[in-house]
Amino acid sequence: MSAAPSDSLNLFPPLVVVEPSGSRDRLVQADCLDLMGRLPEGSVDLIYVDPPFATGRSRRVGRTDRQRSYPDTWDGGLGSYLPWLKDRLVQMRRLLAPTGSLFLHLDWRASHYAKVALDEIFGASGFRNEIVWHYSSGGRARRCFSRKHDVILWYSRTSRWRFFPEAVAVRRDRCPSCGAARKSWNHLRRHTDEDGRVYRTIKSAGKIYRYYDDEPVVPPDVWLDVGHLQQKDPERLGYPTQKPEALLRRVMAATTRPGDLVADLFCGSGTTLAVASGMGRSFLGCDIGAEAVEITRARLDRCGASFSVERLGLLPVTGEQIESAESFRRAVRQGLGALHGPRGQPLIHGMLELAGGRRCLWIPPPLPREPTSPEQVRRFLAAVDAWDAAAGALLLCWEREGAVGHGDLEPRSRRGLPLQVVPIRWSSQPGEGVAGTLQLLSPKDPR
Ligand SMILES: C[S@@+](CC[C@H](N)C(=O)[O-])C[C@H]1O[C@@H](n2cnc3c(N)ncnc32)[C@H](O)[C@@H]1O
Repeated sequence: MSAAPSDSLNLFPPLVVVEPSGSRDRLVQADCLDLMGRLPEGSVDLIYVDPPFATGRSRRVGRTDRQRSYPDTWDGGLGSYLPWLKDRLVQMRRLLAPTGSLFLHLDWRASHYAKVALDEIFGASGFRNEIVWHYSSGGRARRCFSRKHDVILWYSRTSRWRFFPEAVAVRRDRCPSCGAARKSWNHLRRHTDEDGRVYRTIKSAGKIYRYYDDEPVVPPDVWLDVGHLQQKDPERLGYPTQKPEALLRRVMAATTRPGDLVADLFCGSGTTLAVASGMGRSFLGCDIGAEAVEITRARLDRCGASFSVERLGLLPVTGEQIESAESFRRAVRQGLGALHGPRGQPLIHGMLELAGGRRCLWIPPPLPREPTSPEQVRRFLAAVDAWDAAAGALLLCWEREGAVGHGDLEPRSRRGLPLQVVPIRWSSQPGEGVAGTLQLLSPKDPR
């Protein structure tokens, strides 16, 4: 199953480069679905993702100075979470190079559903491993066994996946999971050869098998040796659900080479990107949260990485900017790189030059966040026609049940002029110096 990038998304919303860089490495604030729709097929060598786990609560770390959180609540529970995740997994497969791999990190809540979804998307033959990451931190259960592992599902795009066993192998005389000296040898007999190397033998079906202690072996799919970050761990940045770098180092060492492109589409505090940078891989990081992008940017700066910071479909808005319709429209125009509407045309709120030509913008007032009515659409389109009958139109409309849709635009669509309704959503999660974020949604987002 693969989905092609949408033409309309290629045009709108524009990708805003907040901080350019000559480097190939990128950090993008976006809904990863929108970003992936713009990236070329087969362009990524490794994708590691640690999306929200469908916990049903906001992942919050209480701090006196500010709150760090991202929402993990789903109207309709798994019924809305799974289609949301699946849409993104389909795009991830499309992005992978023929030798590329996806590692999807989840826990008991959704990993079994995700495995079924991945079997459908990649084909069951794409399955490589179900890695169990065991840790011992956190509370203990009283009414069942304590839940002390996450699941990382590894799928490859084709049968030509990359695996570098020597990069992750450990000596046979060490515990393959925790690295401690191995005590149990299952009745193997110990010997020393003429060079002083220790080896073990076992006889089976008349044949003698010989195993050297210092021989490297590939670890199993149960990982016991990587702990969760403790409160005082110097790696800890205070971001909820931050993963340890050691976990990413193993994934990256096993499946990539220096120079490969590693993507994390839910990058949070930027663990994957920091490890990629340290291991000489290129990186592409994406997160929808302003806070996550800020933390990641600072972390990568500390690593000495050079990368661009970009934004797609998300506009930070200050308290002043939502005080009036005019200040809000100015902020949206600025965020999109749009011009003021034509003089004497109060219903045309902005002008945008896109690859497909000029678009007239409809921008609703910030409050109340009412859906745009068919009557408002009719009057706006009449104003566009009267001003420039050849111009396209683009309507930002507050997301709501029964809100204006393409049906209301029919007469103009039939004339073949570019026309798009983009649902917008207000996210009141404040970031540094902003009252909230305006999110321009892709037409299909069940959340
Ligand atoms: C479990 S955290 C990732 C933590 C990360 N692995 C780390 O080590 O810090 C999940 C992240 O997904 C982000 N997120 C949620 N929905 C998203 C979306 N549609 N597109 C991109 N990022 C999203 C959240 O803001 C959050 O930072």
